[in-house]
Amino acid sequence: MRKFFVAVLMVIMMCGVSCAEGKTLVAYFSWGGTTKALAENIAEAGGFDVFRIRPAKEYSTDYDTVIDVAKKEQNRRTRPKLAENVQDFGSYDTVFLGWPCWWGDMPMVVFTFLEANDFSGKRIIPFTTHGGSSWGRSLTSLKKEAPSAKIESNGLSVGGSASKSQVAKWLEGLGFSVKR
Ligand SMILES: Cc1cc2nc3c(=O)[nH]c(=O)nc-3n(C[C@H](O)[C@H](O)[C@H](O)COP(=O)(O)O)c2cc1C
Repeated sequence: MRKFFVAVLMVIMMCGVSCAEGKTLVAYFSWGGTTKALAENIAEAGGFDVFRIRPAKEYSTDYDTVIDVAKKEQNRRTRPKLAENVQDFGSYDTVFLGWPCWWGDMPMVVFTFLEANDFSGKRIIPFTTHGGSSWGRSLTSLKKEAPSAKIESNGLSVGGSASKSQVAKWLEGLGFSVKR
């Protein structure tokens, strides 16, 4: 009987350790708000922490200007400086990473974010919003930028906005429990 209680205690303690390690972050960049809404939907459904990736120098709110700036940054492989980075990044073992498709790829500030943090061994779950290109080249870029991360192949690509039930279904399919 005593052995049984010791075994139960050990299982409880081991669970405590793994639960403490199992933190999840939703990190995203958004210019117009669509990816922000999706990120908040994911975070709310799963009860995850959220971090908005912001460049130190904000992009213009003018569409034509940002289109032009984004293309120039991509051509020059610019790494725009971050306004701030995640506190205690090492405590997260899963990162939902989201971006709007920009010129068929991730916006350059997302490249900066990937290079500013150590993703080795972490699980990255990608999500994107777009106007027709879906992932474009972005998943290939992500793999190159985070070669030692475990990148989830069942990411979420949305042309526009996603409903709460669509997000909940996707999260459950990935093995997360969802607040409904
Ligand atoms: C600079 C820029 C470049 C874009 N390039 C593409 C593109 O190559 N393919 C595409 O499908 N949509 C493109 N879009 C549309 C956005 O991906 C889409 O509207 C997205 O949902 C916007 O997300 P946001 O509101 O979070 O910024 C582009 C938008 C901007 C502002």
